[in-house]
Amino acid sequence: MLPWTLLGVLSLLITVPDALAVKSHDFKTCSQAGFCRRGRAISARAAEAKSAWKSPYSLDVPSIAITPNKAVFKAGVKSSLYPDIKFGLELRVHEDGVVRVRMDEVDGLRKRYDEAASWALISEPQISQEITWTAGKKDIRAKYGNNEVVVAFQPLKISLLRGGKEQVVLNGRGLLHMEHFRTKQVAETKTEEAAPEAEEGAEQVVMDVAKEVNPRAWFEGDTEDDWWDERFSTWTDTKPKGPESLSIDISFPNHGTIYGIPQHATRLALPTTAGDSPTFTEPYRLYNADVFEYLASSPMSLYGSIPVLHAHSADSTVGIFHAVGSETWIDVSHASDKSTQTHWISESGILDVFLMPGPTPADIFAQYARLTGTPVLPPHWSLGYHQCRWNYISSEDVRTVQKRFDEEDMPVDVFWLDIEYANEHKYFMWDEKNFPDPVEMTNDVAANGRKMVVIVDPHLKRTDSYPAFKEASDRKVLVKPASGDGEYEGWCWSGSSSWIDFFNPNSWDWWKSLFKTTALKSGWSWTLSTTDIHIWNDMNEPSVFNGPEISMPRDNVHHGGWEHRDIHNINGMLFSNLTSQAVRERTDPPTRPFVLTRSFFAGSQRFGAMWTGDNLGTWEHMAVGIQMVLANGIAGLSFAGSDVGGFFGNPEPEMLVRWYQVGIFNPFLRAHAHIDTKRREPFLQEEPYKGMIKDILRLRYTMLPVWYTAFRETSVTGVPVLRPHYVVFPKDPKGFAVDDQYFIGSSGILVKPITTKGATETTVYLAEDEVYYDYFSHHVYRGASKGKDITVHAELHEIPVFVRGGSIVPTRERPRRSSPLMKLDPFTLRVALGKTGSARGELYLDDGVSYSHEKGQFVWREFSAETAKKVVRLTTKNLGLERVGEAVDGVALASYNPGNEFAKTIGEVRVEKVVVLGLASKPTSVKVEGGNELVWEYTPGVAAGGKGEGVASVLTIKDPKVLIVKDWAIVIQL
Ligand code: NOJ
Repeated sequence: MLPWTLLGVLSLLITVPDALAVKSHDFKTCSQAGFCRRGRAISARAAEAKSAWKSPYSLDVPSIAITPNKAVFKAGVKSSLYPDIKFGLELRVHEDGVVRVRMDEVDGLRKRYDEAASWALISEPQISQEITWTAGKKDIRAKYGNNEVVVAFQPLKISLLRGGKEQVVLNGRGLLHMEHFRTKQVAETKTEEAAPEAEEGAEQVVMDVAKEVNPRAWFEGDTEDDWWDERFSTWTDTKPKGPESLSIDISFPNHGTIYGIPQHATRLALPTTAGDSPTFTEPYRLYNADVFEYLASSPMSLYGSIPVLHAHSADSTVGIFHAVGSETWIDVSHASDKSTQTHWISESGILDVFLMPGPTPADIFAQYARLTGTPVLPPHWSLGYHQCRWNYISSEDVRTVQKRFDEEDMPVDVFWLDIEYANEHKYFMWDEKNFPDPVEMTNDVAANGRKMVVIVDPHLKRTDSYPAFKEASDRKVLVKPASGDGEYEGWCWSGSSSWIDFFNPNSWDWWKSLFKTTALKSGWSWTLSTTDIHIWNDMNEPSVFNGPEISMPRDNVHHGGWEHRDIHNINGMLFSNLTSQAVRERTDPPTRPFVLTRSFFAGSQRFGAMWTGDNLGTWEHMAVGIQMVLANGIAGLSFAGSDVGGFFGNPEPEMLVRWYQVGIFNPFLRAHAHIDTKRREPFLQEEPYKGMIKDILRLRYTMLPVWYTAFRETSVTGVPVLRPHYVVFPKDPKGFAVDDQYFIGSSGILVKPITTKGATETTVYLAEDEVYYDYFSHHVYRGASKGKDITVHAELHEIPVFVRGGSIVPTRERPRRSSPLMKLDPFTLRVALGKTGSARGELYLDDGVSYSHEKGQFVWREFSAETAKKVVRLTTKNLGLERVGEAVDGVALASYNPGNEFAKTIGEVRVEKVVVLGLASKPTSVKVEGGNELVWEYTPGVAAGGKGEGVASVLTIKDPKVLIVKDWAIVIQL
């Protein structure tokens, strides 16, 4: 008989999901997780006790020690509940004003996991040389600029203030609780006397009595609730270390909206989970999990976790990053419209919270980027269209799909292979029957400038005939079971499998060696690979089909003796980190890797792209995918997208068209589908849908200069590629909840993808008194200083895309089969004059594949238009030259090489068209400065609706023959 787990695997492969619903019973609710239940109970008791509630934690004042440079202090912390237990607190103020708060148990029975930050941070942050702590009678404080950090002694409370107003408060509600390590007592049954029923109005008295009689029970409850082992479904978690959870309240007294803590399928402005009539009754959960058929609106965990959030109001933004790798639940409530309370409950680990003072969203992005790194600048081709499905079944299949794209003149950059390419799901090893010629197949794809991406999952089939498993086993780098001995075994696609422990440094070089395309090893058919193959890391939560919550047992043991529970949320990031290093280092000099990961953590932005996993082919999933991608951007991981078309199901043509419209405005654009779905490649569609999708894909390629420029900006500043309204207009409260429209980088492109069936029009919110031009029709709309909704057409072939007045947008308009073939194509400049007659834009280019840009080999141009005395001057200059060594938002730019070889390769690339929108009148002459009259056409504007609305005037300048890499001026005389 087949084991049930295998049956489960097979049924996944063969069942078309008809009742699409998450299997909630596979995953815990807060009340099914002992530590979450205990944490929430503290908050319930605090709510009941009202003002009688006091945190038992206080600072041990005599122990305060300020370091010689004065920006760091350490002190002991005591809990009145456990006078014999010692805790240590440390606060550091970084050079940029970020405050790091660390608290750990000192000299405890065991050691709490304290390495989460070491995986997330890029380096040890620089401590301020100027900021000094001063201890007083009741508190110790450090003032810098307009900010001040205050640590109150009793009860312990940590606040970040700006302008004297509290912005972030830790333990203000007294929910801090670090469960110390203890020895298991042999059960003593003690029946507590039942407390007398409280009389009306006597609650306070009862509370006080209870507190005095048994303060521990009053604070943390009176049972050893799942302290020593815990059952869920058929699994028992042995919990050898006993209780070690951490609860902390973090409040934002002046911020009514919070964003972040991905990954959840929910609105961008996070709905409440606690307090009066919460939207969700469960807290947001961070526990990386393979959630089959996840819900489109839920605080449930998904595949990745980034414990970072922004708290926002019209006059301030502050941020929090909690470097914790264990399962964490976060309750969100509002004490008033203008303030937000959060309560973080983690299963294990130390308190390691970074308070990011802002005060603007852009400041927070820079502060967070200095901690965990800026997003990677991906290979340029990876911004093109990726065609995937589970599975292209043979090399002939791949060739046919490519041929059909070419026959239909549809652009595509990458073809993907899912797990069926691998012989018995032994990654690296080709299924030689169906893929007899992987090198030739890849070369055929590469002949058109294209790439392939092939999946490599983290589970290794347990058979000695599989070199990856055998070598990992011989090297002893596999995750161990709870006993700490031998190899943990679980089930995944490859049947009985084991998992590499990437926390073990001994696995690193070995893993990287597997990706060398030159190092031939006997018995390895992966050597039949080329450097045109890049990698997809899936199932790295890790997904274990027969494990608790479809993952690893928490008592599994990793390198250093840490339990899986301590590092669960970091685990997936290490896999994609090492894989991206492997792909980068397979050539000398290295080239930019592309690695897609499903699981992620804080810092994953340094390693590649993510996608939102197994979404359903529903309109709700299409819509929430946008919000999820925006939330990931907030947390640093901009290179994100959702499966176009929906992973499960067979989208009707209308839905598919809309999904492509959403997809081309995601940073990562990939169509993907479950093995049971019907083939749905764009060329298979009937007209008019086929033509629509072709136009949509071409639009993406036209806009690649915009995308690449935006990616390059985020790789320097950390400001996300997709910018929701509060990021662009932080002072406009009407935009705080807007999460279905957004800007692309600093380009001025505003998009509102349509995600509803049968739509023919939609409303778009314009936050400012500025003109916005419809990208296609040049219809001009005018916003208002207090914000305004406009109604726009949105028939199936139409996408609401606007250019914000004051922007210059560079595009490449020649249809090509793949993006590398566009390298020498000329540019079009769309000059969208703002209400004052000026405009500005940027273009960044480099070779798109190597790291030579880090040595100054790039082209970075600014275009500007100014109107004065009936003359519009359009000019361009070299930002590389101008801004060498300058810091953008505190992040130093790469050096610039004025004679750079890359610039020479595009030395002849010209501007072939300039379109100027919104000129006040017909020009009398249009010339390149110092040259002859150019060829141009002018269509006057048509006024409608008042205040400059209607159709914009359009001046089209044909082939001015100016070069992209040179300075020039075009003079338009009105
Ligand atoms: C799960 C992934 O989320 C999905 O995209 C993939 O197709 C399957 N695993 C098979 O590899």
